[in-house]
Amino acid sequence: MIKTEIVVKLENWIEKALDKLGYKSEEIKIEHPNEAQFGDYSTNVALGLAKSFKTNPNELASNLKNELDLLVDSDEIIEKTEVAGAGFVNFYLKKEYLIKKAEEINYETVFRSNLAKVGLGKKMVIDYSAPNIAKPFGIGHLRSTNIGQAIYNIYKILGWNCIGDNHLGDWGTQFGKLIVAILKWGGAEKDLDSYTIDDLEKLYVKFHKEAEKDDTLVEEAREWFSKLENKDPEARKIWEKVVEISLEEFRRVYELLNVSIDVANGESFYVDKTDDLIKIIEKKGLIVDSQGAKIIEFENMPPAILVKSNGATTYFTRDMATVKYRFDNWKPDLAIYEVGVDQLLHFSQVFETAKKMGWEPKEGFVHVAHGLLRWKGGKFSTRKGDTIHLSDVIDQAMDRARELARISKISKEMTNDEKEEMVKKVAIGAIKFNDLAQDPKKDIIFDWDKVMNLSGDSGPYLQYTYARCLSVLDKTKIKETKNIINIPEKINLEEEALIKELYKFEEKIIEAAERFSPAVIAEYLLGVARLFNEFYGKHRIIDQKEEVFRLFLVRTTVSVLAFGLELLGIEKIEKM
Ligand code: ARG
Repeated sequence: MIKTEIVVKLENWIEKALDKLGYKSEEIKIEHPNEAQFGDYSTNVALGLAKSFKTNPNELASNLKNELDLLVDSDEIIEKTEVAGAGFVNFYLKKEYLIKKAEEINYETVFRSNLAKVGLGKKMVIDYSAPNIAKPFGIGHLRSTNIGQAIYNIYKILGWNCIGDNHLGDWGTQFGKLIVAILKWGGAEKDLDSYTIDDLEKLYVKFHKEAEKDDTLVEEAREWFSKLENKDPEARKIWEKVVEISLEEFRRVYELLNVSIDVANGESFYVDKTDDLIKIIEKKGLIVDSQGAKIIEFENMPPAILVKSNGATTYFTRDMATVKYRFDNWKPDLAIYEVGVDQLLHFSQVFETAKKMGWEPKEGFVHVAHGLLRWKGGKFSTRKGDTIHLSDVIDQAMDRARELARISKISKEMTNDEKEEMVKKVAIGAIKFNDLAQDPKKDIIFDWDKVMNLSGDSGPYLQYTYARCLSVLDKTKIKETKNIINIPEKINLEEEALIKELYKFEEKIIEAAERFSPAVIAEYLLGVARLFNEFYGKHRIIDQKEEVFRLFLVRTTVSVLAFGLELLGIEKIEKM
């Protein structure tokens, strides 16, 4: 667990104070209390020690407090300490410190360079998105794409050297099926060049329908795949074209989603690397022959197939080749896979095999196994068929965003192009935020009313709050709002609540990285927006005697929202 500067300081003080009292604690836990009245940080260390030494926790806590007070007295961080509850010691931060932290956020280069120290010198590889060729970009790959990109952004900002790799599903028996379908029903008049991704999907679906009636089709498909594996020129030509059509579609989607993946070594990239791989694993003695197939056995899992009895390699084989390739060529400290929870067993087998082969990065493998995306009410109605295409979802989001724009006052002053631009940002932002704001490990519900709710926990709510902040900064005559020269004597409850949230930004970014969960940041941003809106609803800003300080709070909120949305890959909106 990486700690922020202040937590390290608190720990040191507590350790010193305990030392004076003749105690030593293995672990000093420091947390934010749930309620503001209990201060900004709290430790239960006295409770634990009192238990092991069979003394009174309250007494120990108050001795600890007294020792701490001697230490923190001359410091510019702590306002006061207090003993509370059964033996907690609570810390209250000074206004000056909170303001200093907020200033750091506003001076973006300072903030960025502090963050970048966290992961300096380390390298990670993240495997995400990985849609399958010849199928339109489905909703199934949306979570991987969004969450994966956000994790990438977060690690990058923390100074890690990051490689994003799109492990495209561009190889496998399904290509045999597709080739058969193209040759049989693609229509001789139709030139391969004019195929769209939808045509390909239709052909693939047709194959499965026809194969139910006619078994020979499956056999034919197998033969075509085997031709493809053996570099048959005709098979190869069709395959290449299909890949090209698909990539075209994926590029369009990525641009829309604000996603950019460093490399795309799809499964086909590893086809010529599997022979060597199998030899190396064989040499290590991990392969067992089973009815003509080569398999790897595990203690607590079913076996994985490395080579089928017909000689074909598998998804597992190619993933093992991928692990080795990345290990040898990129030497990562950490390898992250953002892939659905339905592949839990697969990755357990991959990781276990890699460990036995000595291909595990220092900080290990992580499978961020995201849950399913479900629709409120059970089913998503599509215009074209039963599979849910991302483009259908985006179309619906755009329709709803247009409706929001229609009733917004500000949009009346916009040109049509500006309006469409805003509609697009709202629609995509809403879809992405819904994906990112929920714990990756859980199944999530897609509920249009929530996803697009301007006053609720949604992407558009953050965009709206951001635009609201900018409009305040636009109205004032005071332009320098990044720092505070005269600290106000008294600040009101809403101002206090807001500034006591803003300084937590840095630790939230670190926590998001450690938990592989962009939701930590998403939730935090919602909290900041809520506190800002409470403050904004209650207090006037312009032309008040508190204007300077209040503008400073607005400015810091802008900085946090802008930076946070950037990490999540959600676009800001200036006017809304
Ligand atoms: N293309 C695969 C699928 O859609 C996901 C690939 C994930 N990454 C990997 N290295 N296996 O199921």
